Amino acid sequence: MKSKILIIGVTGSLGFDLAKASVQASHPTYGLVRDSAFSDPNKSQKLQILSDAGVTLLKGSLQDEESLVEAIKQVDVVICSIPSKLVLDQKLLVQAIKRAGCIKRFIPSEFGSDPDKTRVSDLDYNFYSRKAEIRRLIEAEHIPYTYICCNFFMRYLLPSLVQPGLKSPPREKVTIYGDGTIKGVFVKQSDVAAFTIRSVDDPRTLNMALHLRPPGNVYSMNELVEIWETKIDKELQKTYISEEELLIKIKETPYPDNMELVFVYSAFVKGDQTYFDIESSGRVEGTQLYPQLVYTTIIEYLDTLA
Ligand SMILES: NC(=O)c1ccc[n+]([C@@H]2O[C@H](COP(=O)([O-])OP(=O)(O)OC[C@H]3O[C@@H](n4cnc5c(N)ncnc54)[C@H](OP(=O)(O)O)[C@@H]3O)[C@@H](O)[C@H]2O)c1
Repeated sequence: MKSKILIIGVTGSLGFDLAKASVQASHPTYGLVRDSAFSDPNKSQKLQILSDAGVTLLKGSLQDEESLVEAIKQVDVVICSIPSKLVLDQKLLVQAIKRAGCIKRFIPSEFGSDPDKTRVSDLDYNFYSRKAEIRRLIEAEHIPYTYICCNFFMRYLLPSLVQPGLKSPPREKVTIYGDGTIKGVFVKQSDVAAFTIRSVDDPRTLNMALHLRPPGNVYSMNELVEIWETKIDKELQKTYISEEELLIKIKETPYPDNMELVFVYSAFVKGDQTYFDIESSGRVEGTQLYPQLVYTTIIEYLDTLA
């Protein structure tokens, strides 16, 4: 029997993909939706699509504990997909999950680099420490969990070939941060959703961080540029920005505009997405657990941009 899944954030970008993946995998699927979403044309269109696909829509919000408990009592698994700046709003949700007492798995809103493994806490305006704080709360309350560490979504930074500020990949000049040899990871958002849903009933992912580091999706900036040059059949003019220069740029750029640079620094200079071995640090990797799940590779994605 497949677990019943409640998703919070189904009108959002990842949440919508999670709901579709959940239905696709035949899980009875519920979405917790705020009243205001029904009167927004874009969001109500998404809700109609989900409702037509079989998702049960429940009204509620993260600020309304009774609505949370009522929704949680109908399901086995809760997945939260609210924006990163709001992650501390999950505190009441953790309390409601504890109160309801029926949840077999909670997946909090993370979906990025592993907050217990990143090393940019002096630069990231508590981006990762807030996610780590929610982890510690879940663990203190003994709520069963899976943390999803998917690294970068492909829709983030890859469309510009890791050129913060640009919207499309460069065709003349490219900036490479650090020496260009440190590897980062990109996974397509719909694949993140499919791996997340695949993990919810798996005992191997219970109380674990599930990392996504798919072969074919782990590249350094030098390698990404080389792949792109081959695709467009042109050599780009390269400028290297040293770690020191990047740190100055981060400090000189106002928040939140500097966050893209912080993420580039974390992934492609510090190596926060790949410096540790997944298994020996007590974590599991998605493509190893589910080799049958087909995912989009970086080369396939860059084909769509060329
Ligand atoms: N790794 C990466 O590259 C990357 C990139 C982007 C995002 N992410 C991660 O993906 C996750 C989701 O981000 P996203 O970009 O998909 O978010 P999003 O599109 O901004 O969607 C946010 C959703 O949260 C809902 N929400 C917000 N506050 C709520 C509340 N108080 N009660 C109930 N629902 C509430 C919104 O509902 P309404 O429609 O009612 O507003 C919306 O459905 C986050 O964990 C984020 O860190 C990762």
